Amino acid sequence: MSKTHKIAVLAGDGIGPEVVREGLRILDAAQERFGFSTERVEYPFGTDHWLKTEKIFPDAEFAAVQQMDAVLLGAIGDPRAPVGLIERGIIGKLRWELDMYINLRPIKLYDERYCPLKDKGPEDVDMVIVRENTEDAYVHPPVFQHKGTADEIAEQPMRYTRKGTERVIRYAFELAMTRPRRQLTLIDKANAVRAQDLYTRVFAEVALEYPEVKTDHAYIDAACMWMVKNPEWFDVAVTTNLFGDIITDLGAMLQGGMGVAASANLHPGKLSLFEPIHGSMPKAAGKNTANPVATISAVSLMLDYLGEKEAAAAVEGAIADLLRSDRVKGLKAGLHSTSEWGDMVLEQMGALTA
Ligand code: IPM
Ligand code: MG
Repeated sequence: MSKTHKIAVLAGDGIGPEVVREGLRILDAAQERFGFSTERVEYPFGTDHWLKTEKIFPDAEFAAVQQMDAVLLGAIGDPRAPVGLIERGIIGKLRWELDMYINLRPIKLYDERYCPLKDKGPEDVDMVIVRENTEDAYVHPPVFQHKGTADEIAEQPMRYTRKGTERVIRYAFELAMTRPRRQLTLIDKANAVRAQDLYTRVFAEVALEYPEVKTDHAYIDAACMWMVKNPEWFDVAVTTNLFGDIITDLGAMLQGGMGVAASANLHPGKLSLFEPIHGSMPKAAGKNTANPVATISAVSLMLDYLGEKEAAAAVEGAIADLLRSDRVKGLKAGLHSTSEWGDMVLEQMGALTA
């Protein structure tokens, strides 16, 4: 019997709605071909909704979303709202309150021409960053003392728990076991942020259980350098929330830019969220120029998580084949319109005739 997956769709701000629209066209085609169905509920939350209603993500809807199987999110953020208010109130609320402790960010280059690095190709850029997603500098609200005076002090602590550290490290080891190279790099800054000694110790402890995995370590500053100089050294890497946020933007550039980088926010076995890693690009909103490939890739990650492995592989394969073909003029926004990208992926899947 075919399955029905319940999906909450939060298109969000800026270019979110148009990239999500293309992602959903691909999802339609995948379900038609692979014989499963989805029940989708679209939620209007984002900056426009907040400006109109003063509501960010009301409890009733939040509770309803919790009953679903997955969330597909477009983008959140808009300069008309106070910095971080809507981002923390929507993405933050989902990640933190629903304990989506893994932020999985695959960095895979499909064709040499999209890589800004000289002499690097697809064989050099194929890694997955496992970013911790619930702790670190994201947990505590900031504390400002003597605000606005010459004596002002602003603080926001970085917090790591053994449980939080261990579960993300364990996930990364398990993931490394599924990949041919079986290599895992711990990225931290334990030489300066001594609290991250917890990562050093837990990583060493868990490593004992995975003798087949080759382990490695890099401080975040050096990791940024190595990722640009020798990206081929990385297979799976695990890191803290804030460093993971930063280094995955760098990683996105290596695979061709924000137009193609996707991520999964996972609580294995529970409700998880899938999104492009790019922001909302308010200036480009509604222009049909944004590249939706990252969102389509997020749909593939979502299908994989939902157990629709064949469909996930078909969508990812279509993206890979398309990006390797000479139909693609480039990945920069505007070279192909948002809807044209959707058409091209569908054609590649055989779901639309050219
Ligand atoms: C990301 C984003 C978010 C983060 C912002 C929007 C809060 O940059 O998902 O990478 O910092 O995690
Ligand atoms: Mg980010």
